[in-house]
Amino acid sequence: MLNAQEPRSSSKKPRISDHVRFLHSWITNPLKTGAVSPSSPGLARMMASYLDPHSEGPVIELGPGTGPVTKALLERGFAPERLFLIEYNPEFCTLLRQRYPGVTVIQGDAYAMDKTLNGCLPSRAAGVISSLPLFTMPVEERHRMVNEAFDLCHPGAPFVQFTYAVVTPVPLVPGKIEGKVSPRVWMNVPPARVWVYHRP
Ligand SMILES: C[S@@+](CC[C@H](N)C(=O)[O-])C[C@H]1O[C@@H](n2cnc3c(N)ncnc32)[C@H](O)[C@@H]1O
Repeated sequence: MLNAQEPRSSSKKPRISDHVRFLHSWITNPLKTGAVSPSSPGLARMMASYLDPHSEGPVIELGPGTGPVTKALLERGFAPERLFLIEYNPEFCTLLRQRYPGVTVIQGDAYAMDKTLNGCLPSRAAGVISSLPLFTMPVEERHRMVNEAFDLCHPGAPFVQFTYAVVTPVPLVPGKIEGKVSPRVWMNVPPARVWVYHRP
């Protein structure tokens, strides 16, 4: 079905060039890019489904890339003004600003989340949604980053993360970081799953 806001002619072109953009980013910086192609709409929708558009506060997106998860959040009903994106790659940032007016796109390091956001969040966040390639970082650094995210959120807010791996990319810490995993999303290359972490 044709999306009313995106004419057929313009909905095809970006999809092809996004794959080229992504591959270029992966060739230039494979460890930071973490994938050879953008996430599928199905995976992005699965991730967005764990955040409630009726909840209070902004949403922080880490590693938005070319924006499939951002798109899924907007389609789920989040107003653009509620979305705060942290992306390392400046070319992706330029693309995201053009593609999603009203969304705040910050070029910088998600592992220094609080510093990178630089006080721009209007209130505590409703949750964090991340596509960061976590396995390239030591476990201690992943735990520190997830805890930094929880500190910026309402108590009990979710940290949503996709992974291609069988094991959790954020090892659970009973009483401190708890999590549940989704069924496998087969309509993605490679198939992936979504972890939702909470601080109890
Ligand atoms: C696996 S891609 C996912 C992109 C997109 N969300 C998707 O699902 O197609 C990871 C993205 O995270 C970005 N990234 C990696 N490390 C980062 C960091 N420390 N801070 C901010 N962005 C980072 C990369 O530039 C890339 O765009």
